[in-house]
Amino acid sequence: MDLSIVGVGHVGLVTAAVFADLGHRVVGLDDDRDKLDTLLAGDVPFHEPGLPELLERVVADGSLTFTDDLSVAVDHGEVIFVCVGTPPLPGGGPDLRFVERVGREVARHATRETVLVEKSTVPANTGVRLTQVIAHELEVRRADATAADPDDVHVHVASNPEFLREGVAVKDTAEPDRIVYGTASDYARDKLREVYAPMVERVGCPVVETDVPTAELIKHASNAFLATRLSFINAVANVCDRVGADVELVAKGMGHDARIGHAFLNAGLGYGGSCFPKDVDAFAHLARQVGYDFGLLEEVRDINVGQRQVVLDRLRDELWHLQGKTIAILGAAFKPGTDDLREAPALYLAESLLAEGATVRMYDPVALDGVAEVLPEVERIDDPLEAARGAHAAVIATEWPQIAGLDPSDLKAALDYPIVVDGRNCLDARAAIDAGLHYHGIGRGHLRVR
Ligand code: UGA
Repeated sequence: MDLSIVGVGHVGLVTAAVFADLGHRVVGLDDDRDKLDTLLAGDVPFHEPGLPELLERVVADGSLTFTDDLSVAVDHGEVIFVCVGTPPLPGGGPDLRFVERVGREVARHATRETVLVEKSTVPANTGVRLTQVIAHELEVRRADATAADPDDVHVHVASNPEFLREGVAVKDTAEPDRIVYGTASDYARDKLREVYAPMVERVGCPVVETDVPTAELIKHASNAFLATRLSFINAVANVCDRVGADVELVAKGMGHDARIGHAFLNAGLGYGGSCFPKDVDAFAHLARQVGYDFGLLEEVRDINVGQRQVVLDRLRDELWHLQGKTIAILGAAFKPGTDDLREAPALYLAESLLAEGATVRMYDPVALDGVAEVLPEVERIDDPLEAARGAHAAVIATEWPQIAGLDPSDLKAALDYPIVVDGRNCLDARAAIDAGLHYHGIGRGHLRVR
């Protein structure tokens, strides 16, 4: 099929490459010329394992091309996927200007029956709004005697949320757990069936076909539910710390219940990234707008933010005050496998430590350039032990293998004071204690010396 992807950021680029690999002819549109030049030169502007190789293949065989001309993308795509950003606004809701603009422009330029699919995470009324914007634009076109006859033009709005995780985005997109799309017409549903037919045949994943608002809600509810699990286990961790229990084993014991499962029960510094923090706020905001107070989500957010304080409190307990102390933060990205620093707990910690007068050093295998841009006062060191050398304490903020695999004795030898706050519970705690480290995990109260 001829598909267009509007916005080749993380979601759009991966989606475009995977669709091209499935055998579709894909045009990726972005108005950021620099980004397109980077892509055309064979570079991927962010860290995503497997994506450079996949892109190279689909660009070389011509199944994926790029443009910054919207009319090219609209002409090309019988199905057009909207993957533009929806950054958060101060009140908690997402900024939907870019989504609206795409709807308007597609209605202005379309020359035939087209399906416009929301893939960006949007509130559960965006489909209705987009349909309205498109109807207005088509009305304007009809009233303009000089415009090409728009009577054959029909733009069907659909919602097809993505569930990819950064770091494993190619696999999540090519072999999804499920495919969800919501449509308001048989035409749009049939087109989306056709888009995904080769994937369903290959992977055999379930397909959930719904109306548009239901598909939008599935995305909201999925991310909010996962965030709730994380805040729940982090709250449990805080109780474990106080009663001398081990949250790792609590999670293990819970996870064996088939109704609960093991995934997403790792306690720690809390969630970051471009999705959960924004989506939890956006869902709470949407609920408020429609007259429902989803207080649970406010609590989920508050618990998450509180986890960063837990780490700072441990440091203050150990070091009294932080003025003039040197702290090594090991890991900057919001999780391993990505160089994404958006809402990264490590940055929040660094800012707080700097504000309290500490010197901050950071190690990360891929995200240090980004750190230089947002926090130039942080000293960047490309080796974890070197970052720890001579520091008064180390904080583990991202469980990269290079960090989780550190030998506790080496860490002890490098540090000035042997203090480690493991914000991701990724070190072998017993080995760390045996090596002589003052080891602080999250929810590992059973290790505290009484
Ligand atoms: C998340 C969802 O997992 C995807 O399904 C969704 O498509 C995506 O948001 C989105 O809406 O675009 P992502 O933000 O890439 O994906 O990252 P996750 O792997 O979900 O991790 C989110 C955060 O939770 C990370 O900071 C991670 O460190 C933290 N986390 C995860 C924990 O603290 N504990 C866990 O057990 C799991």
